[in-house]
Amino acid sequence: MASYLKYVMPFIFFITFNFSAIRAQGLSYQYQVCSPNKFTPNSTFQTHLTTLFSSLTSEASNNVQFFNNTITGTNSSYTVYGLFMCRGDIPSDMCNHCVGNGTQRLSTHADCTLSKAAVVYYDECIVRYSNRSFFSTLTMLAGYALWNPTNMTNQESFKTLLYDTMNKTADEAAHFPTGSKKFATRETSIDIFQKLYCLAQCTQDLSPVDCRSCLDSLINFDLPNCCAGSQGGRVYYPNCIIRFEIYPFFRSLSTAPTPSPAGLVPPANSGGELCLILYASIISMAELRFEL
Ligand SMILES: *[C@@H]1O[C@H](CO)[C@@H](O)[C@H](O)[C@H]1NC(C)=O
Ligand SMILES: *[C@@H]1O[C@H](CO)[C@@H](O)[C@H](O)[C@H]1NC(C)=O
Ligand SMILES: *[C@@H]1O[C@H](CO)[C@@H](O)[C@H](O)[C@H]1NC(C)=O
Ligand SMILES: *[C@@H]1O[C@H](CO)[C@@H](O)[C@H](O)[C@H]1NC(C)=O
Ligand SMILES: *[C@@H]1O[C@H](CO)[C@@H](O)[C@H](O)[C@H]1NC(C)=O
Ligand SMILES: *[C@@H]1O[C@H](CO)[C@@H](O)[C@H](O)[C@H]1NC(C)=O
Ligand SMILES: *[C@@H]1O[C@H](CO)[C@@H](O)[C@H](O)[C@H]1NC(C)=O
Repeated sequence: MASYLKYVMPFIFFITFNFSAIRAQGLSYQYQVCSPNKFTPNSTFQTHLTTLFSSLTSEASNNVQFFNNTITGTNSSYTVYGLFMCRGDIPSDMCNHCVGNGTQRLSTHADCTLSKAAVVYYDECIVRYSNRSFFSTLTMLAGYALWNPTNMTNQESFKTLLYDTMNKTADEAAHFPTGSKKFATRETSIDIFQKLYCLAQCTQDLSPVDCRSCLDSLINFDLPNCCAGSQGGRVYYPNCIIRFEIYPFFRSLSTAPTPSPAGLVPPANSGGELCLILYASIISMAELRFEL
């Protein structure tokens, strides 16, 4: 499971995020993986996929943060399985917007249209479907990582704090029973000036054990390879996600129901723009194309 990085051909490019644009639009698209195995246009499978997408968007408009559905064909090769998960702190209107945008993207994007399986990641949600059942099944393929190229100055002490805080966040997210929301955030002081903000979430079809093992893999395998000494990083997989920053990027669930977007803006010294690097494992994507 954790061996793919041995084969990673670093596939590095730069993305410039304009945070004011993201805030205005409210949606932050990250990455997609779409199977090269295609179904026949205008087939029963396509009809079922369209039905699945409308069921996901309609459920997302219903103040629901996670939903999985199966459109069953009389012939099992026409059965479609799908789900969405919104990040645990995302308001329902944005969740709805994200799932709508995700299903539209998967049905219209040149790489994805007619794919038998696909997953799309936004900061706000994940949308996934397949011709195979994947519910309650842990997938460590199709991972994606993004990090801030600026390193923390005190690397070693920061890493210790990061792993420790991420572990605690993961423990909390994973302890919820199967079928319930598995989401946790934590903040802790780095020094008197700076704070570390961590987030972890699993899809709620996972058992606590699978959720913890998913997060464990991200924290102990992916994080050291991509992000651990950086000022921020995020790792997304189909079943679980983690993210950390040194500015508050998540909304507080316990306080105001309509949190101020001002709290989500990175500090002024970032100049409103952050340069981030994306890496993706070619091998894991290749495997995914086969398996998803
Ligand atoms: C599928 O249906 C659309 C609209 O009905 C039509 O334009 C298109 O030619 C059809 N494609 C195939 C391969 O039959
Ligand atoms: C949703 O996932 C659960 C957990 O695996 C499964 O038992 C249930 O049948 C799924 N629901 C639908 C409608 O596919
Ligand atoms: C199901 O559909 C596939 C592909 O169209 C076909 O090859 C297969 O014979 C069908 N199976 C049944 C039981 O009808
Ligand atoms: C899903 O599609 C893949 C690729 O075409 C195929 O190998 C597999 O048998 C399909 N699975 C099911 C359950 O139909
Ligand atoms: C989805 O987002 C893209 C840009 O990220 C935008 O161009 C598009 O109009 C959006 N679609 C929907 C349905 O919101
Ligand atoms: C940050 O640290 C990593 C790992 O130690 C190093 O490879 C990278 O060059 C550093 N980046 C900068 C901008 O100093
Ligand atoms: C985090 O937890 C893993 C096991 O889940 C353990 O191996 C690792 O040492 C822990 N790290 C810290 C810093 O607590």
